[in-house]
Amino acid sequence: MRKQIAAANWKMNKTFQDGKELLETIVNGIGNLSSDQQVIFAVPFPYLMESNKSINNKPNVFISAQNCHHKTAGAFTGEVSVDMLDSIGIKYCVVGHSERREYFHESNAELAEKVNLCLSKSITPIFCCGEPLNIREEGIQNSFVEKQLNDSLFHLDAEAVQKVVIAYEPIWAIGTGKTATSDQAQEMHAHLRTVLAQKFGKQVADHVSILYGGSVKGANAKEIFSQPDVDGGLVGGASLISAEFLQIISALK
Ligand code: 13P
Repeated sequence: MRKQIAAANWKMNKTFQDGKELLETIVNGIGNLSSDQQVIFAVPFPYLMESNKSINNKPNVFISAQNCHHKTAGAFTGEVSVDMLDSIGIKYCVVGHSERREYFHESNAELAEKVNLCLSKSITPIFCCGEPLNIREEGIQNSFVEKQLNDSLFHLDAEAVQKVVIAYEPIWAIGTGKTATSDQAQEMHAHLRTVLAQKFGKQVADHVSILYGGSVKGANAKEIFSQPDVDGGLVGGASLISAEFLQIISALK
């Protein structure tokens, strides 16, 4: 079975002290996870090391970076490399979040480089994709998202692509309270799995976890996650509230 994943994306929220308390409350509240379930916390860079310590090797719980640079090292003031993440034992990294694509002009080609660098260090990229509202209104969201995968993931071979987690996050649903319906999520996830199957074969496609992101809450997680091609969620706002995120974790298949 594919991994079922509840991933928190804290974005640029919480002080270190508040984040530590939140992380501890949630980790202490997680019941037994099955071997197919994972909980991931994408925390701000300065909290990575301490967060990794505080989860204390709890099975199936991981800390993720929210970004990395697309070059290995050098004169890039303020940036963080994949080698740096690897050197402190980080195993996941969010790549290509729509906020980074929009505010930091990250291109599909740069994101392909980030994916390659992550995989070269056995860091799992949580690769984000998703369409803006105007594309959805035009009804061309499938080809739009397919191109994002094509340009940043489809240079990989079948073995490598299976190591990527995909997060479909329609931009119009992020932080807006306007969740995609479970049917809309399922439709896109099924499309992405079909595209993966065409390119890499069905066995590979069946292996890749595809998370949904965009206004996931405790109250709607169960319905969204119950869709056959939805393998959990990447959660922003609701991941900052312990009771909400615990409810989301308990909604995993
Ligand atoms: P919200 O859950 O706040 O809509 O954010 C989703 C997101 O961007 C997760 O990466």
